[in-house]
Amino acid sequence: MAMPTILIIFGVTGDLTSRKLVPGIFKLFKEGLLPDNFQIVGFSRRNLNDEEFREMMRDTPPNPPSVRGGTARRDSRKWDEFARLLTYQKGNFEADEGFEKLAGRLVHSDNPGHVCANKLLYLATPPKYYHTILDKLEKFNLNKTCGTEEGWTRIVVEKPFGRDLQTAKELDLRLAQLFHERQIFRIDHYLGKDSLQNVMAFRFGNPIFEPVWNRNYVERVGIKILETLGMEGRGAFYDDIGALRDMGQNHLLQMLAMTAMDPPYSFEPEAVRDERSKVLKSLRPIKSGEVDKYVVRGQYKGYKEEPNVAEDSKTETFFRAKLYVDNERWEGVPFFIRTGKRMDRSAVEVSVYFKDVPHRLFAHGHGKEQNFVRFQIQPKQMISLGLFVKHPGLEMKLDPQQLSYDYKSAYEGQFIDAYEKVLVDCLRGDQTLFARTDGIMAAWNIITPIIEGWEANNSPLFEYEAGSGGPVEAFTF
Ligand code: BG6
Repeated sequence: MAMPTILIIFGVTGDLTSRKLVPGIFKLFKEGLLPDNFQIVGFSRRNLNDEEFREMMRDTPPNPPSVRGGTARRDSRKWDEFARLLTYQKGNFEADEGFEKLAGRLVHSDNPGHVCANKLLYLATPPKYYHTILDKLEKFNLNKTCGTEEGWTRIVVEKPFGRDLQTAKELDLRLAQLFHERQIFRIDHYLGKDSLQNVMAFRFGNPIFEPVWNRNYVERVGIKILETLGMEGRGAFYDDIGALRDMGQNHLLQMLAMTAMDPPYSFEPEAVRDERSKVLKSLRPIKSGEVDKYVVRGQYKGYKEEPNVAEDSKTETFFRAKLYVDNERWEGVPFFIRTGKRMDRSAVEVSVYFKDVPHRLFAHGHGKEQNFVRFQIQPKQMISLGLFVKHPGLEMKLDPQQLSYDYKSAYEGQFIDAYEKVLVDCLRGDQTLFARTDGIMAAWNIITPIIEGWEANNSPLFEYEAGSGGPVEAFTF
């Protein structure tokens, strides 16, 4: 029998497990992509037995149908088979008892006649519990592998990774005391999205774009994540962190890194991570006193009435920032990043806008359009080129048009959900799509002065209507 691989999810009754992890793992199970002898142990403070835990997990909503194999699963026979892999361990993060029992179940190498196991420790709790859990993992040797040659132990850390540069460093230091960097998987599920990886594929697989992918041809870059969703029961979590930490420090900056990175020398994990990290290190820091010139924040009307949100909350649900990548390729090209909750539409996009022709021969449409490459990541998954064509007729004038490729329809049903992808990578030990410590710190280097600047300058928090495009004040630069 193969050595067991055990996924231990801390905070298993939270929203992440039901929305993303269990649906993802169940699909991997149905497709035979899980290792042999795979088991899941859910860990949380709630008083549940295995059966109750399985029922609770069965009740989670299905993934969207566009994703491979995304169907409801409540009554399927496959689910019953899968449910047998699930067991539950009750435990308070602060108390020894639960961890002691957990360690007993996972029997490690100091136990004679032991059965050794690969362990994937998943921190799916609010970040405030990370240090407490890490202390217990150490105390009960749960960070150890079975022996020098036997099995592996890995830890998966969800975002936000710290609250600022200082706390991120502290967390990193603590992790480094318990694990090697190769064992630490800092998740940014955006990197697991096929349509975002497609930015790399498009850039580095088609030699016709790389020569123009720089300051000589690119005028600006726009990266956005707009959501129509509001709090959806996550008020307490969100109110504590806000849009800049929830989306800016991680997803948006990683998208920027994918767009701006140099070609890696190979597709080896470290080579790819080197290039993403280099971009983040090249971001021009914003001085605290100048934050309002480069970053604008907003909050939707009605946010303060959301459950578990403070009545006088100053948390931003929207921000837009202008950043610069100070390197030879991008010097002087502004990168605009933007995100918001309760917007008028859902859209995740990267748009690269090109400079005008040096000398205009023809009248151009309305004069404002320009060439662009746009990657729509979701809900549409398209690549579009904005180009000019001749307007038919006697006059020689140009119209802006788009050449669009619908990635989603071309591969309907074949996309892998981002969480499935990153889970498989954790199980395989492939860190290509995970943030590395230097990249995380570089991202906090940019984000921390913004947070501090907002505080120090008492920067305005502009209100916007729910269902709008965000505060108008955000579009003055
Ligand atoms: C999460 C954020 O990381 O990403 C959420 O915490 C956000 O606030 C979510 O809604 C968006 O992810 P996706 O994959 O649905 O675009």
